[in-house]
Amino acid sequence: LDNGLALKPTMGWLHWERFMCNTDCDRDPDNCISERLYMQMADVMVKEGWKDAGYEYVCIDDCWPSHQRDAQGRLQADPNRFPGGIKKLADYVHSKGLKLGIYADVGKKTCAGYPGSFGYYETDAQTFADWGVDLLKYDGCYLDWQLLGEGYINMSKALNKTGKSILYSCEWPLYEWPFHQPNYTAIRETCNHWRNFADVYDSWSSIKTILDWSADHQDIIVPAAGPGGWNDPDMLVIGNFGLSHDQQESQMALWAIMAAPLLMSNDLRDICPRSKELLQNKHIIAISQDPLGKQGYRTAKMDSFEVWERPLSEKRLAVAILNKQEIGGPRGYLLAAIPGWKFCNPKCSVIQILPQYKDMGVQPIQSDIMVHVNPSGTTLLTLTPTSSNTTGLHWQDM
Ligand code: GLA
Repeated sequence: LDNGLALKPTMGWLHWERFMCNTDCDRDPDNCISERLYMQMADVMVKEGWKDAGYEYVCIDDCWPSHQRDAQGRLQADPNRFPGGIKKLADYVHSKGLKLGIYADVGKKTCAGYPGSFGYYETDAQTFADWGVDLLKYDGCYLDWQLLGEGYINMSKALNKTGKSILYSCEWPLYEWPFHQPNYTAIRETCNHWRNFADVYDSWSSIKTILDWSADHQDIIVPAAGPGGWNDPDMLVIGNFGLSHDQQESQMALWAIMAAPLLMSNDLRDICPRSKELLQNKHIIAISQDPLGKQGYRTAKMDSFEVWERPLSEKRLAVAILNKQEIGGPRGYLLAAIPGWKFCNPKCSVIQILPQYKDMGVQPIQSDIMVHVNPSGTTLLTLTPTSSNTTGLHWQDM
């Protein structure tokens, strides 16, 4: 969507995977969906280096509203859980130099059964604009799939009409895929990012299904991505309970390769130092936010290895080598077996970013160097061809 926003993949925090629809503030005040949760998250984001690392949006997901609209037909926050209201919360988040995201649904109800926007697109857009909201995640439950496109487009227009800059995060293709192949040209014109596939869970099998879906559909989805509009494979679940450290590295590396929004869903108030270091790794974030703005894709799949590559600015290439064999120890992979290695003619300078940062120096095209990849882990590299006068093909042309 050409609204000047999401020129790079969005970075921030979103409550859903970790906190879901916990509305029990009497018995679980620290984890329930309430203004306190977002205020505390905003505080930590500033204090603990998240904001400096680039994470900017603090996002509310489902279950924030009251079950009734007000007398003017406007959505209102649940008064017990958001006593100050959303406008005050937005002011607070802005005072920290961060941005606030909110959630609504194009249909008659949200997925968790709260009031939907159907019939209220302009009212809701104006309400969010009046509150100073900076991002809208717009879900697609409870609407006939044939009305989805029209609904998403109408809300996009309504947001634009408010005159405020509101990043528009859609789930349009996710709800259309069961019926037909979505029109990605229209989606890109309407949304700043869009969910294509099922919700992420805190498990390695969930990450694997998302990667498989993305690779299987890459010819359709990758060309749609670029500054202003991105494919959204859903939240980062790094720092929770279900992924080993190697699996967390795989999610981080592959989300950067896919130019995915980096929306963490975890508890930043209580996160292990290794997960924090991974989420704040500036070399990986630089790949995610690379100014060329091209999404990467899977280039090889063999012997349970997958290679994913993303063209970067300054003729560099990011390469993720994922070891999907969940038995045995680290396995060696030859640099020369990376499909993009053919552009390392006569040489490439090689930097390893994961599992630990290591300058591997300049390697010739005939290199027989191997990198080692842990089971369900990923080795992440960047390659830079060293020849000054290459006239041949570059990976930008791949
Ligand atoms: C859908 C979305 C999730 C989340 C829930 C909330 O399942 O895909 O990301 O927003 O609804 O109910």
